[in-house]
Amino acid sequence: MGYQEIFKQSIEDPQSFWAEKAEDIFWFQKPESVLSQDKKGNYRWFKGGMLNTAYLALDYHIETGYGDQIALIYDSPVTGKKRKYTYMQLRDKVAAFSGALLSLGVRKGDRVVIYMPMIPEAVISMLGCARIGAIHSVVFGGFAPHELAIRIDDAKPKVIVTASNGIEFTRVIAYKPLVDSAIKQAKHKPDHCIVFQRDQLKAELNNERDLDYSDLVAKARPGAYIPVEATDPLYILYTSGTTGKPKGIVRDNGGHAVALKSTMKNIYGINRGDVYWAASDVGWVVGHSYIVYAPLLAGATTILFEGKPVRTPHAGVFWRVLSEYKVKTFFTAPTAFRAMKKEDPFGSLAKNYDLSELKYLFLAGERLDPPTYHWLKDLMKDKPVVDHWWQTESGWPMVANPLGIEKFEVKPGSATKPVYGFDVQVLDDDGKPVKASTEGNIVVKLPLPPGCLPTLWNDEKRFLASYMERFPGYYHTGDGGYIDEEGYVFIMGRTDDVINVAGHRLSTGAMEELIASHPAVAECAVVGINDELRGQVPAGFIVIKDRYKIDEYSLVGELVTMIREEIGSFAYFRQTAVVKRLPKTRSGKILRHIIRKMADGDEFTVPSTIDDVKILDEIKEVLYDKQIGKAFQTEGI
Ligand code: COA
Ligand code: AMP
Repeated sequence: MGYQEIFKQSIEDPQSFWAEKAEDIFWFQKPESVLSQDKKGNYRWFKGGMLNTAYLALDYHIETGYGDQIALIYDSPVTGKKRKYTYMQLRDKVAAFSGALLSLGVRKGDRVVIYMPMIPEAVISMLGCARIGAIHSVVFGGFAPHELAIRIDDAKPKVIVTASNGIEFTRVIAYKPLVDSAIKQAKHKPDHCIVFQRDQLKAELNNERDLDYSDLVAKARPGAYIPVEATDPLYILYTSGTTGKPKGIVRDNGGHAVALKSTMKNIYGINRGDVYWAASDVGWVVGHSYIVYAPLLAGATTILFEGKPVRTPHAGVFWRVLSEYKVKTFFTAPTAFRAMKKEDPFGSLAKNYDLSELKYLFLAGERLDPPTYHWLKDLMKDKPVVDHWWQTESGWPMVANPLGIEKFEVKPGSATKPVYGFDVQVLDDDGKPVKASTEGNIVVKLPLPPGCLPTLWNDEKRFLASYMERFPGYYHTGDGGYIDEEGYVFIMGRTDDVINVAGHRLSTGAMEELIASHPAVAECAVVGINDELRGQVPAGFIVIKDRYKIDEYSLVGELVTMIREEIGSFAYFRQTAVVKRLPKTRSGKILRHIIRKMADGDEFTVPSTIDDVKILDEIKEVLYDKQIGKAFQTEGI
């Protein structure tokens, strides 16, 4: 069957479409229904089905004769270590860790926060939770204690798992003091903190709460997998919304396993035994879905890479890994290639490696900008370079070039076609469908396919308000864009206050909330402006309180430090300026989009509702003076 037929069936008859896909995983008990609605009217997939995601990812392969196949390759240029785990070895490590959790009283439905660098123990901890039905919540290691504390208070974990340190290029970052500080800040106190001691640094275990990972595992009896309901949560992954409070995206077990397994073949062209590499971080959704779960569900070999695209030790390290492990499909963020391109403009380093086994290159996390696409295409020659679009909320691609089904010609700037199950449409602000090639709000007609968020952790109200109420009957993605006459989807960027910095999703609202808490700040606006390497970076515009005495430079310095220490340095909040006033509508709404467009040097129409048009000249002057954005380089400003 070709794409069109498959897509049509998935939309017109989702029940039989997904019933068939569900046959591809092993159920301890088959679902009573494929698609149903709960009492509140929310859609649920595979109700009544019993399964275990860690069993499907590991034990199932062993039982079907693939125990000696390599499941995971750990390659760490920052430590010089490389290690391979067969399915059997990985399962044994996971079972041992499950046993350790059980010995601490962790049971089905309990939460476990994982704050770890890119080491095998992070993957083992995730699967160890899944094996016993505990719900993991991985927090990206770049987040500062304040952000970790917010997540601890929301998820209320029984246990936190961490490591003594992470490594950023050559810099060793002690994790344990960060976790200690987060626990101190949080109202909820976990019973235990399990610490994996790495060679670079030994963390101090200073009270009964702290436990050594290796000791604990050595003492525990292996934990058995338990069947869980398809609708039971597998994990919570916090992602940035428009406020300081992150959204706890819930992923259930059944829909996730069925959907993810289907994508390996249909989208990424991966079969059992193939090598697949997603160069992301386990702290992000790409890491959850495509470093850990999907490749293992498919019986492939996955790579866990602890390094960066550059300077670990050089801009050819990705080509080295691709060649060394004969990777068939590679997936990363465009920003990683932009970083490589900066250091190796002609991609000469790729020529040192045999890339003949590499078949497909996938990019996501942000729009694949046409210059990066062309650079890669020139380098890759006949290998497809595929942009595909998705979100933490969806858990898997909503728009892609489904290479395992049908290969479409690429249109640079487009993520290609809606993936089966996703009825992607474009609506205007009044909820009416727009004509082809007209920009509007990107939405997905309900029901969403399996694997997408059924709700937000502890916040059904926000789930409905954020995603379901703006356009009744549709999931509101928060992205804007258009679909052309040939059905190609172009995602043009967020329509809300979420920005994307080097493939990392961040909330400008969260930054504003922090900045506004500084006693000198009367009001502020943070906007995401274009950046050649990172895609976007935040820029802050601050109004100081009338009679507050503070030197402008000290304030700016304090605010930059504040964001580093409270959110994390990866937020890259470095450009900020004091302004006399912010542009507003007469009703007092800050015109952030105008500031952003001015900084990017884009054209804009001055809204008739603007309070005082002269403010725009003041902002222009500040952009020029502080050299913020591109605008100051443009003639005439
Ligand atoms: N733990 C602690 N700190 C971290 C961190 C982590 N996991 N990740 C980033 N940081 C810190 C860095 O150390 C740096 O700190 P500094 O300001 O004190 O130097 C800061 O955050 C900025 O980091 P980063 O944005 O990573 O910049 P960089 O110059 O170190 O690297 C890139 C630039 C483009 C190479 C890097 O951002 C990258 O690899 N991006 C790809 C990201 C990706 O794959 N995203 C996929 C999501 S799908
Ligand atoms: P995250 O939830 O961190 O995966 O971020 C999701 C957001 O990243 C989306 O809502 C988009 O704004 C952006 N994004 C991800 N992939 C793409 C892509 N291929 N093209 C355009 N935007 C993307």
